[in-house]
Amino acid sequence: MKAAIYPGSFDPVTYGHLDIVARAADLFDKLYVAVLNNPAKSPLFSVHERIEMLSDAVSHLANVCVESFSGLVVEYARARGAIAIVRGLRAVSDFEAEFKMASMNSHLAPEIETVFMMTVSEYSFVSSSIVKEVASLGGDVRAYVPERVAVRLAERFATGSSGV
Ligand code: PNS
Repeated sequence: MKAAIYPGSFDPVTYGHLDIVARAADLFDKLYVAVLNNPAKSPLFSVHERIEMLSDAVSHLANVCVESFSGLVVEYARARGAIAIVRGLRAVSDFEAEFKMASMNSHLAPEIETVFMMTVSEYSFVSSSIVKEVASLGGDVRAYVPERVAVRLAERFATGSSGV
C-alpha cells in the first residue's frame, strides 16, 4: 500500500489544491491531506475550520483522509508510513521555495520522495492569499473556491474576526 501526504496551510482550500488532491489520489493508494497547525502565522481560519472545509470538498474521494499536523512534515510523513510528499507547482516563482523545502526534507528523510505536480493552467495563478485579498474587498471568488468556502470567506470578512 503506497501512501503519500499532501501538506499545506490550506487557508482556505482552493480549486488549485483540490485539483492536486484528485490527481494525487489517483496515483497513490492512500493520500493524507495534512493541514499545518500554524497559529504563529495568524491564519484566517482555525485548523478545525480548514479541516472542515477540506473534508467537505474531498468527501467523494474514498482514499483521501484530511488531518492536521504540527512539527516537521517528514516526521508526520514517517508516522503515516508515507513514501512521498506531494506539492503543487504553479509558476516558476514557486520553484525556489519548493526546491529549498524539498532539499531540506530529502536531507532529513532521504527515504521520502517529494513529488511535484503541475497545477492545471486554469488555476496556475490562484493562491489562498489572492483569494483572501479579493474576498476581503468584496470580490467574487466562487470560480476559485468551493461555494461553502466562498460563503465562509464572506462571513469571516463581514465579521472581521480571525480563526485563531
Ligand atoms: O501551503 P504552504 O504554506 O505552502 O505549506 C507549507 C508547508 C506546510 C508544506 C511547510 O511550511 C511545512 O512543511 N511546514 C512544516 C515544518 C517543516 O517540516 N519544516 C521543514 C520543511 S523545509
